[in-house]
This record gives sequence, structure tokens and C-alpha cells, in this order.
Amino acid sequence: MKTLFTDIGSLVLTKEKFGELEIIHNANLLVEDSKISYLGEQKVAADQEISLAGKTVIPGFVDSHAHPVFAGDRSEEFAHRMMGESYGAGGINYTVGLTRSASDSELRANLERIIAEFLESGITHFEAKSGYGLDLETEIRLLRIASEYTTDVTYLGAHVVPRGEDREQYLELVCGEMLEQALGYAKWVDVFVDRGAFSAQEARRILVAATAKGLKPRLHANQLENIGAIDLALEFDCASVDHCTHLSDSDVEKLAGSNTVVTLLPGAEFSTRSPYPDAKRLVDAGITLALATDCNPGSSYTTSMPFCIALAVREMGLSPDQALWAATRGGAKALRNELGQLSVGSRADFVVLDAPSHVHLAYRPGVQLVSETYVMGKKVFERN
Ligand code: NIG
Ligand code: FE
Repeated sequence: MKTLFTDIGSLVLTKEKFGELEIIHNANLLVEDSKISYLGEQKVAADQEISLAGKTVIPGFVDSHAHPVFAGDRSEEFAHRMMGESYGAGGINYTVGLTRSASDSELRANLERIIAEFLESGITHFEAKSGYGLDLETEIRLLRIASEYTTDVTYLGAHVVPRGEDREQYLELVCGEMLEQALGYAKWVDVFVDRGAFSAQEARRILVAATAKGLKPRLHANQLENIGAIDLALEFDCASVDHCTHLSDSDVEKLAGSNTVVTLLPGAEFSTRSPYPDAKRLVDAGITLALATDCNPGSSYTTSMPFCIALAVREMGLSPDQALWAATRGGAKALRNELGQLSVGSRADFVVLDAPSHVHLAYRPGVQLVSETYVMGKKVFERN
């Protein structure tokens, strides 16, 4: 089945180089089954034609950092924070309590609600971390449920030491039996390396154990403090280091010469009322950036990539082109896959914006501009 999408006002393509886009006006896009088989100004033969009436088409957003498997919320913690309390990793244990007592079907229902919101925001692929179980049974349950919905599942048994547990015993579990069972579901391993979570030394021990078993590394790093996570990330060739709110000049220099993507999570700075990292400094140094939602009930309860784009442009110093690139191709690079682009042969994951250009994503914050979302050529969301 060949479907030709016609009358695309602006077709936005992501180039290989960070932040570079190519825009084709009055374009057509041919989708054959789940892939793109032609794009350009010419109209080509197809089984059916769908006019997009001058709208903008962008690649689907690739959310490379999310914690969408959990129960309950932390709106009270958020309200207190907005009245001046500061954010710490401690709140994670509250969500752990609720998650442990939730059934599989309750966790699935919450995850499906979040995925529906992802599609509504134009996210066509997402990563999902465990980390709200923190005991053998629940961590594996979260990984199993996540693996029913995405191929990018991340083992985050090392989110924090669960309340009341002995630190050393928990580390042994994370590097031992829990890791062993995680292998059946996870592709990635992540550690929260920060104040109140794990030290760089502890994280090294976890990465050594997990990479020896074939998991690929990524890290939560430098969100609250700089405790030396960047050297560790580079030592292990992590696909991505995420948050990076606090980076020294030498961290920036080392990251620029590496293969590791820096994933910025502006929803977390917004919700924890923290200073935003200076993305322009990172771009100027030559670092490849991704933007992701960090969707979780504590530090960033958003499923909206357009919101993250607007924050990155307004508060972090990215241009609208760079932010769009970071939320698509950047996310794909942070997951070391080939998504986040529209080209012949690529997966037909795309988003139709009811706007004359992608710049409107930041220019019109809080407005639902996503009118349709397609995953592998199938329409999975349509705005009423
Ligand atoms: O990415 N930083 C660690 N983990 C999450 C927050 C988890 C929580 O507060 O529940 C994050 O921000
Ligand atoms: Fe996170």
C-alpha cells in the first residue's frame, strides 16, 4: 500500500550535523507500508493521496529519557517546592512505596495513559527506565512491563538506595541477582550518579558488572551536583549523559571530543525550580545534544516534547532549529539508533503540525499544534 501525503507546506528534514535542518516547501511524502520511499517536490504515483493542506511535517520526536512506569503522583511535593522547598532524591522512595503496591494492570494502565500523551505530543519512540521498584520482584516487574511497549528498556535499579536498606547489600543485589534477571528485558543500564543517590565509585562498580553482561551504559549525571560522573561516562563510552545541569569547563571539553551525547531535560529544571544549563555553551564547544522529557512523577511530570522545546529555546539558548534537531535526531543518537529523521528507507514516524513552520513549537508555547502523529506509517493520534 502506497500513500502519498501531498501539499506539505514545510517538510522538515534533520541533517547529520547537530542542529542542521533542511526544509522542503510544497513537498510530498510517499509512505510504503511502514517506511518512507520518496520525498520531494514531485508528485509520484500512489494508491491513495492525502492532502496536508499546507501544514508542517517534522520527524517524530524521540524521547530518549523517561521514567514512565510508576504509580501515583507527587503533586503535594511539587506544591511545597513551588513554595520554596528544595528538590532532593528522597521523594523517589515515596513513589517506590506506591509502585510496589500497584498491580501489573494498574501499572500498565498508567503507562498506557502516558504513552497516549506521548503520541499526542508527537513522541513516536521512547525509552523507559525502571527505578521505582528497588526490590528484586518490583524492578523486574517494571522492566517486563516496559518491554511490552518499547525496545529501549533501561535497568535503573541504581536509582537510589531504598529506604531502610543496607547500602552494601543493595549494591550487591543491583550487581547480582537483580542484574541477572534484568538481562531478559533491558538493553541499557543507567545509574543516578549524584548527591543523595550513588557516588562515581559505586556507579563504576555497577557499570562494570552490567556492561560485562552486555547491557549498554548511560548515566544520570550532574543534575544536583558535579561529583565526577562525566569522567566515568567517558571511560565507559556511555551513549548519553543526562541532565548535565552542572558541568565544569574540563567536562565540557572532554564531552566535546567524545561519542557521548548530552541529553538536556528542561522539564526537570522547570519542575525543581533549578537553574537551566547553558545549552549554547555546549553547542559552541561542539557537543551533540538531545532533548528529552524525563517524564517522571517527581522532577518532571510532563509528556510534552513541545514544552521541552519551548523551554530549551527560551531558557537554555538553543535556536528553534537546534531544539527541533535535539528532540528528534539528537534523541536517536542518544539511543544510538537511526530514528529521528525522514529520508528514503527510514521508518515513517512523523508528525503533522497545524502551523506554517516548526518554529511555532517554541513561538506558541502551550498550544497543541500537533494535529496528527504517525508511527511506522500508521496514524496513531489525530486532534479533534
Ligand atoms: O531524572 N534524577 C533522578 N531521577 C529522576 C527523578 C526521579 C524522581 O524524583 O522521582 C530524574 O529527574
Ligand atoms: Fe531521569
